[in-house]
Amino acid sequence: LRTAAVIPAAGRGVRLGPGAPKALRALNGTPMLVHAVRAMAASRAVSLVVVVAPADGVGEVKRLLDEHALPSRTDYLVVPGGDARQESVRLGLEALPEGIDIVLVHDAARPLVPVDTVDAVVEAVRDGAVAVVPALPLADTVKEVEPTAPGEPEPVVATPERARLRAVQTPQGFDHDTLVNAHATIALAGDGATDDAGMVERLGAPVVVVPGHEEAFKVTRPLDLVLAEAVLARRRA
Ligand code: C5P
Repeated sequence: LRTAAVIPAAGRGVRLGPGAPKALRALNGTPMLVHAVRAMAASRAVSLVVVVAPADGVGEVKRLLDEHALPSRTDYLVVPGGDARQESVRLGLEALPEGIDIVLVHDAARPLVPVDTVDAVVEAVRDGAVAVVPALPLADTVKEVEPTAPGEPEPVVATPERARLRAVQTPQGFDHDTLVNAHATIALAGDGATDDAGMVERLGAPVVVVPGHEEAFKVTRPLDLVLAEAVLARRRA
């Protein structure tokens, strides 16, 4: 079965502070996106990586990937993204050639996911799951609140049982046709899904969770850059 990875990398990364688009910020001297592409290419299952770049950054991203060595068995394509993550993923899916059976969707913002996690996701799809999500149990208790005006205390509505909650990561793995169908159907409904598996759930298709990894955390805030560089330094030690 042929597997491709789509990497949405078209976000501006506003929460990280001012500067270049998030995916192009360096971690120990190498752009986050290059780490993310290498993390997908590290899996022997992945034969193609489609990077979805900021619309005005396609040329720059192509140059960047040409400059940084990837395994020769992996092809890559760079396509322009959209205003929302969901749209960027759809544009990436549209760029896939015929003959792809399994699609991984991986955030450029999770540059350090270990290859074992990528392989475990692919394996679960090969074993017959149509949608697979790596995820971890939560350290924090989570409360659902009724959002109020900024500065007002927010009333608590519910406290879901922590042991049943999982924080989801990427790469999420899918049967190709199921994911394309979800993007066609749910995107038309103008739904603001925050992950791809959520769109498949709304189709009514089953989604399963496999163990994620601490190092697959999302680089969102300035502190995450410190943590990511520390993980890289430990790997080199
Ligand atoms: O903003 P967030 O951290 O949820 O973004 C997750 C991933 O989606 C990032 O890799 C980001 O570059 C990507 N994205 C995108 N197109 C957008 C917004 C986000 O490809 N319009």
